[in-house]
Amino acid sequence: MSPRKIRQALAALVLLVVCASAQTASAPQKSVDQRVDELLSKMTLEEKIGQLNQINQGMPTGTVVNGNPVTLNVEQAVTEGRIGSMLNVTGAADTNRLQKIAIEKSRLHIPLLFGFDVIHGYRTVFPIPLAIASSWDPESAKLSAQVAAREATAAGIRWTFAPMVDIARDPRWGRIAEGAGEDPFLGAAIARAYVQGFQGELNSPDHMAACAKHYVAYGAAEAGRDYNSVDLSERRLRETYLPPFEAAEDAGVATFMSSFNTIDGIPASANPFTLRKVLKGEWGFKGFVVSDWNSVGELIPHGVAADGADAARLALNAGVDMDMCSGDYIRYVAGLVKAGTIPESVVDDAARRILRVKFELGLFDHPYTDEKREANDTLTSTNMEAARDIAEKSIVLLKNDKDTLPLSKSVRSIAVIGPLADSQIDMLGNWIGKGEAKDAVTILEGIKAEAPEAKLIVSKGVGVLDPSEEGIAEAVNAARQADVAVLVLGEKGEMTGEAASRAKLGLPGKQEKLLRAVMATGKPLVLVLMNGRPLTLEWEARHVPAIVEAWFPGVQGGNAVARILFGDVNPSAKLPVTFPRSIGQIPLYYNALSTGRPFTDPKAKYESRYLDSPNTPEFPFGYGLSYTKFAYSNLQLSTARLGNTGVIKVTAEVENTGNRAGDEIVQFYTRDLVASVSRPVKELKGFQRVSLRPGEKKTVEFTINRKQVAFWNADMKYAAEPGKFEVWVGPSSMEGLEGSFVLVE
Ligand code: GLC
Repeated sequence: MSPRKIRQALAALVLLVVCASAQTASAPQKSVDQRVDELLSKMTLEEKIGQLNQINQGMPTGTVVNGNPVTLNVEQAVTEGRIGSMLNVTGAADTNRLQKIAIEKSRLHIPLLFGFDVIHGYRTVFPIPLAIASSWDPESAKLSAQVAAREATAAGIRWTFAPMVDIARDPRWGRIAEGAGEDPFLGAAIARAYVQGFQGELNSPDHMAACAKHYVAYGAAEAGRDYNSVDLSERRLRETYLPPFEAAEDAGVATFMSSFNTIDGIPASANPFTLRKVLKGEWGFKGFVVSDWNSVGELIPHGVAADGADAARLALNAGVDMDMCSGDYIRYVAGLVKAGTIPESVVDDAARRILRVKFELGLFDHPYTDEKREANDTLTSTNMEAARDIAEKSIVLLKNDKDTLPLSKSVRSIAVIGPLADSQIDMLGNWIGKGEAKDAVTILEGIKAEAPEAKLIVSKGVGVLDPSEEGIAEAVNAARQADVAVLVLGEKGEMTGEAASRAKLGLPGKQEKLLRAVMATGKPLVLVLMNGRPLTLEWEARHVPAIVEAWFPGVQGGNAVARILFGDVNPSAKLPVTFPRSIGQIPLYYNALSTGRPFTDPKAKYESRYLDSPNTPEFPFGYGLSYTKFAYSNLQLSTARLGNTGVIKVTAEVENTGNRAGDEIVQFYTRDLVASVSRPVKELKGFQRVSLRPGEKKTVEFTINRKQVAFWNADMKYAAEPGKFEVWVGPSSMEGLEGSFVLVE
């Protein structure tokens, strides 16, 4: 019996005991399911379907009068029970106003569920999720979600369309910014943490339902082009793309969102295998699935539905419980049920799932938001401190030749150059919720605060995308006058996220030309990158002495970057995603299969390699530097043979051999050398942050058991197989101390 099943059985047993004792003590407390069933039994078919309908403010009804599209009369639709949820309604006053209509005017007083994209903060905008994943710190992810939930619920939001847990291995895809990168183990740990942070105790008013999205494999879009087709084996689906979703489900996520893409020709928003067999069947998911925006309606352009009614039939029968904004459920499902093409039991199940979440949120008992909370809970100093602290943990030091960094605070003059050095809006990145540019501290402002005595010479140089090179001369001149140049270059926040795929991954516009011109001055130079995806940095990596990956670091990002540049904070972050040398290498990820001709000999021709590029990345998964140095030694395994029930303890010593305190994120990888299917050359199985003072040494311990080396075998069964395994403990996916063990029958 799986751990989840055991937990469910135990929960049922506890409930039985509690109910039994409640019977004796006082009037029976109705369970959520009892309350749901009681309500459902009173509902008409139309009212049930109303719960399946989510709309956006200002939705067109699809009808046109005198050439003008008629927008939905929301108040009337709510009164008639034709709306179960709304998105993009924010502010306690607005949500309370609509909620009051639902509670007081609808026949059954069913509360509305207000949803919003609270992806990395509501008003206090945190670093983008790919940055938070760079911290390899689930507690940071959880904290950011807790703060976001407190602020969003104060504005009447009780459901966020997050976490986005799509594994992404293609940096051309703009939405790589929204997730936790390329690895299922790290992705699962981060997914779990976000769900815990957003949901907490679901019925507490400062928590909200989370939504694992985009289910599933949306990040595998061909050519990295958003919304494009996905073709992968069931094994790849189960080994790589499903684990973070399974982790979210295991953590109790209340909802899932089905994605836009097809999988093997079947749209994810009409896919009985992923939705019914895996999610609701194998995993026993009891929450509900919402479609992505109009992904029900998009079954028509996908070419699997002839019209809206067909789309509604396919999606609802496949397991999409709520329709986000296509209107096809509210328009067609009643007729489809009466025609017998959708069993009413399917509608009942979908409505039951949605009502269950509303009961679990406490919306029936406490449907309104305390309107005093918004002023008190938003943009507080505590929230800002959390945003800065998490940003500091998310910034990756990629290069630091000749100890260019940290900068001295007594530096006389600094040239701060680049289009992103003082751009408040771009500190926030994409999906910024209700974040406002005015709240953001830019890197220029952060540097001013960190080095108030230094003379700052500021020059934008070029735009992010602007083809003009006019400003380069001014920027070069600024660098010439200064002791050091800090260039802040990269992407605009709007160049990442949804519908933001890029076919080229270099610094956009004329930024590289600016960088080369300033480099030519010979001044000490630091490159700070602000971007939402891995970039191709071949020239930069070879010529720029210091490179800091700041991603889009959020409202406190300027302070965080500056504190790292001046050494108040020692960077500790590690890449959650591979930086390729060139687009030609994509997809490039660390946990790849060996192939029959693994690249071993630069002189050999007939190996899996390129004529014009190494196979290795520019910067590998798990890579990140510190201002100090760490040495690994003395890898030990408690035994070389692992049995059915045994556990192997793997230990190694990590020493701070530098002259300042620092954190190291120690990583633990394994490799299954021989199995019934080809297995990745490395798989992350553990990671730990260790804090070390100069000269201090600590022993770090990982454990490995049979379950941790299970995989989907040749018979598509999830099981471990006997044989030899290699293990590594080290600072990245490309280096570490090596050992081995044997898993016996
Ligand atoms: C968008 C996105 C999804 C978001 C939803 C609601 O199209 O794909 O991530 O949650 O619509 O805004």
